[in-house]
Amino acid sequence: MTVHFIGAGPGAPDLITLRAVRLLRAAPVCLYAGSLVPKEILGHCPKGARLVDTAPLSLDEIVAEYVRAHALGQDVARLHSGDLSIWSAVNEQLRRLDALGIDYTLTPGVPAFAAAAASLGRELTVPSLAQSLVLTRTPGRASAMPERETLAAFASTGATLAIHLSIHAVATVVAELSPFYGQDCPVAVVWRASWPEERIVRSTLAGLVAAIAEAPMERTALILVGPGLEAQAYPDSALYDPGYQRRFRGRGD
Ligand SMILES: C[S@@+](CC[C@H](N)C(=O)[O-])C[C@H]1O[C@@H](n2cnc3c(N)ncnc32)[C@H](O)[C@@H]1O
Repeated sequence: MTVHFIGAGPGAPDLITLRAVRLLRAAPVCLYAGSLVPKEILGHCPKGARLVDTAPLSLDEIVAEYVRAHALGQDVARLHSGDLSIWSAVNEQLRRLDALGIDYTLTPGVPAFAAAAASLGRELTVPSLAQSLVLTRTPGRASAMPERETLAAFASTGATLAIHLSIHAVATVVAELSPFYGQDCPVAVVWRASWPEERIVRSTLAGLVAAIAEAPMERTALILVGPGLEAQAYPDSALYDPGYQRRFRGRGD
């Protein structure tokens, strides 16, 4: 018996991996986060599968589901939104499974920041301008931020920021970032990227609070900030430069 943790992607039912579908089809038990995992994805589960919405459950209750399935020798598909590697609360479950001696696997999914970039029609790294992407958040009720992981610290590098779990804190985001990026810095907010009801708000830092007030968005929104979001005047990358091709291609670079 194995618990298969699966990244369910950002919302569109066809943005999951072939491996995820294969595992879902074979698992008689599926645990999923009700509000974020689309119902169509559950359609891959076998007929008669035990489907458990974990939204109202505590960690102990979720672990009890694993223990129950283990006793019955039934594999579990455990769906989390986006990818498992960020803000998925997977580690605490793995720690419990390790203690119980229950096997597990992890299958990656499409993260929200990648879906948001696709919706914007934009690469988030830009030659000479932004060569780093910072995946971060502001503090929440349940999660304090480590002392040095401030928006200001990340902003001081000028990198593109993908700010999660923070649509309720737009004014704070603007106040903390403006001294570093300037009032005119482009911002894009993508709400429910890849869902049918997806919405995009483009603004500058100075205009962001008013722009969001006009088109209120709750949760499930990503705030992207950085000069790379709109830049047009940047050099081509070296990758397709004929000189680069002559010198390095064919040598394993
Ligand atoms: C608990 S985190 C989960 C992140 C997820 N594990 C991932 O890989 O993207 C939830 C936050 O991710 C972002 N998010 C998740 N799905 C999204 C989507 N479809 N569109 C925009 N933002 C999304 C929002 O910032 C939301 O507050």
